[in-house]
Amino acid sequence: MANLNLSNAKVSKNDEFYTQYTDIEKEMNAYLEFDPNVFKDKTILLPCDDPEWSNFTKFFAQNFERFGLKKLISTSYAVDSKNFKSAYQPTLFEINDPKFDESKTRVKGKIFTLTRDKTGDGKINVEDLEWTYLKDDGDFRSSEIAKLRDESDIIVTNPPFSLFREFVSWIFEAKRKFVLIGSMNAITYKEIFSLLKQDKMWLGNGFKAGNAYFSSPLSKNYAEGVYDSETGLVKFRNCCWYTNLDHGKRHHPMALMTLNDNLKFSKHKDIRKNGYQKYDNYNAIEVSFTDAIPIDFDGIMGVPISFLDKYSPEQFEIIGSDYEVKEGLFPEIKNENWKGKFDRGYINGRRIYSRILIRKR
Ligand SMILES: C[S@@+](CC[C@H](N)C(=O)[O-])C[C@H]1O[C@@H](n2cnc3c(N)ncnc32)[C@H](O)[C@@H]1O
Repeated sequence: MANLNLSNAKVSKNDEFYTQYTDIEKEMNAYLEFDPNVFKDKTILLPCDDPEWSNFTKFFAQNFERFGLKKLISTSYAVDSKNFKSAYQPTLFEINDPKFDESKTRVKGKIFTLTRDKTGDGKINVEDLEWTYLKDDGDFRSSEIAKLRDESDIIVTNPPFSLFREFVSWIFEAKRKFVLIGSMNAITYKEIFSLLKQDKMWLGNGFKAGNAYFSSPLSKNYAEGVYDSETGLVKFRNCCWYTNLDHGKRHHPMALMTLNDNLKFSKHKDIRKNGYQKYDNYNAIEVSFTDAIPIDFDGIMGVPISFLDKYSPEQFEIIGSDYEVKEGLFPEIKNENWKGKFDRGYINGRRIYSRILIRKR
């Protein structure tokens, strides 16, 4: 099955991708395994959501008691404000509610809250969600949603891909805990990389085998292969979770071989044949495969951005990125004899993909 790249222009205009319940469950379980009380007495905010469609609200509402939540808040974005306006029909849930307002349904966001056993059946769950229209359209940048952010402890969502950078800085402004889905390409954004390097944010546990499947009203517009007509889902290969909640995987060091063993036994023919090449322009070696990082090498190594999915801060130190070398941040990494550019690493005059520069601890 083919993949879809999030930076694809056709995709960036479509923000309507809905996350699978099982993906949310798998990710949240990783935080719960690390700390069973991670959500206890917490107010969780799910912005950029659409509780009538989205599984984030269902997941946290169904687990409200088990997690010991204090409050769940979920907000949606008004249909008239969305990039993609489907043939909109309010749901029966909304129409049958006395609060239904024809003049608001398209232009106002909605807020759903869960704090108590509204139905009186002795349980607090999805049946007890209470809702109303927001004053505004539910834009996370509005003062109305910023207030909810400030009231919350943990923010969890799959924000609009096109506004990922802004969304992250909106969270950091308020110094909140968070778990977010984003494109792996975001690792190379200057502001995002800086947070990763400072260990203020890291990659989450991750999607199964690195593949994320989303439902979308636009699914059918994607090519056969990207869109699976059987499941109705769209496949992305470069999605990951970003978080500042701790989880076990990031404290598991990778099992790696020594440099000499890699030269003899690496599963990558390129390493066995050519060894580790020194960059023309950096005082560092190129390691094109994360699983071929030589564990006993003391110098600086350039590794693919997907390294971050396996990164354990106890095992390696992130020195910087090729972008930062270009910006002049690490003069000691530059090979002064090189007459060409420093925009990326070069080997035998050939420009390499974007790399993260690391060193063993
Ligand atoms: C990628 S979807 C994810 C939906 C849901 N959180 C999920 O994962 O199932 C992002 C949602 O954010 C909404 N959105 C787009 N721009 C927004 C904004 N400025 N403020 C709030 N929501 C926005 C989109 O309409 C879309 O419904």
